[in-house]
Amino acid sequence: MSQETIAGSVTCDSEEVRAGQNDERLSATPPNRWILQLAGAGLAICVGTAVTFHYTTRGVLARAAAAADGGAVLTAKAVDPMRDVVSLEHGMGVYAANCATCHGPGGLGDGPQAASLIPRPRNFSGGAFKVGTTRSGLPTDDDLAAAIRHGMLPAMMPPWPQLSDGEVKSLALAVRHLAVDGRVADKLRRDPSFPREKAEAMAHGALDSGPVIVLPPRPPTLDLARGKMFYETNCAACHDPDGRGKLRDDLVDNDENPITARDLTSGVFKGGDSPDDIAMRIVRGIPGSPMPGIPTITGEDLWSTVAYVKTLAKPASAATSAK
Ligand code: HEC
Ligand code: HEC
Repeated sequence: MSQETIAGSVTCDSEEVRAGQNDERLSATPPNRWILQLAGAGLAICVGTAVTFHYTTRGVLARAAAAADGGAVLTAKAVDPMRDVVSLEHGMGVYAANCATCHGPGGLGDGPQAASLIPRPRNFSGGAFKVGTTRSGLPTDDDLAAAIRHGMLPAMMPPWPQLSDGEVKSLALAVRHLAVDGRVADKLRRDPSFPREKAEAMAHGALDSGPVIVLPPRPPTLDLARGKMFYETNCAACHDPDGRGKLRDDLVDNDENPITARDLTSGVFKGGDSPDDIAMRIVRGIPGSPMPGIPTITGEDLWSTVAYVKTLAKPASAATSAK
């Protein structure tokens, strides 16, 4: 229902005003003046009420819509004027409030909650970035924003549906800034006489994501038997023939922490569960983990394997993975 209709539904059909007019008419002379004055006052009250009702309702409706629109509940946050600002400064503030507890104030992966977590919260300056869309393994700002928004379950990196787009985009700037800062500090620690500006330029260069991968085209029909065969030849050694990833216990990540291949029957994906997301993981691999990329894979093999991986998810999780 539009706000106009709601405002319009407050009509000036006020019986009380008319009843009042009648009473006054009985006792007052000359009646015409009173009637005019009363009618005028009644009209003013009526218009005032309608206007007030209109604006109050509009506020309530707007807040209800905001609440329905992604859980922005009636907190001070919902009306934070900074919400849509995209800036490094904004990002650093949101980072300090939400992320430093795990990633550390300087993004070195050393926040108070970090010690208990495996995999560890990412050290932005040194670490690989697991999910992204570039050949280089380094994320674009969009990749960072997507990773932050989506989270990386089943790892302890939570999703952030409650943050605004401005906050998430600002966080991507903050993560990049911390990554550069960490690299510069590291360089200057090892070589204190090295010019800072040069170290900064080097760090920016080292974090340049380069071009985005264009996935090979999807064939008109998918061949599940082909996907199964490709999986058994290239993936089952780590993920097991049934996709559960239980058999290998010798895999380690870049931090030398033990890691298992994902249980593909769980339907939970760090980088998203759409066919494009899964295809990207297969082509690019997962930097920082032992999962290799297959940059030369053909479109037929890739999309058939994606379709086959999707069939491994158990019915219980199929609802969340069907997209
Ligand atoms: C409860 C701890 C925790 C909190 C809070 C947390 N993270 Fe993480 N984050 C992690 C862990 C653990 C990983 C590593 C996941 C992995 O390697 O699979 C991670 C990974 C990441 C990555 C790496 C993405 C990639 O492609 O590898 C980014 C970027 C990141 N977090 C940003 C953030 C930001 C921004 C916030 C705040 C909005 C945040 N994190 C809050 C635990 C946390
Ligand atoms: C050398 C071992 C290894 C091989 C070979 C391997 N993987 Fe993985 N895979 C892993 C590990 C380890 C992870 C978990 C990485 C993590 O959680 O950080 C993983 C994760 C995944 C994920 C989850 C991605 C996400 O977003 O969470 C998918 C999907 C996947 N692998 C598919 C495949 C497919 C398909 C193949 C074959 C084309 C394959 N893997 C080959 C080790 C392997």
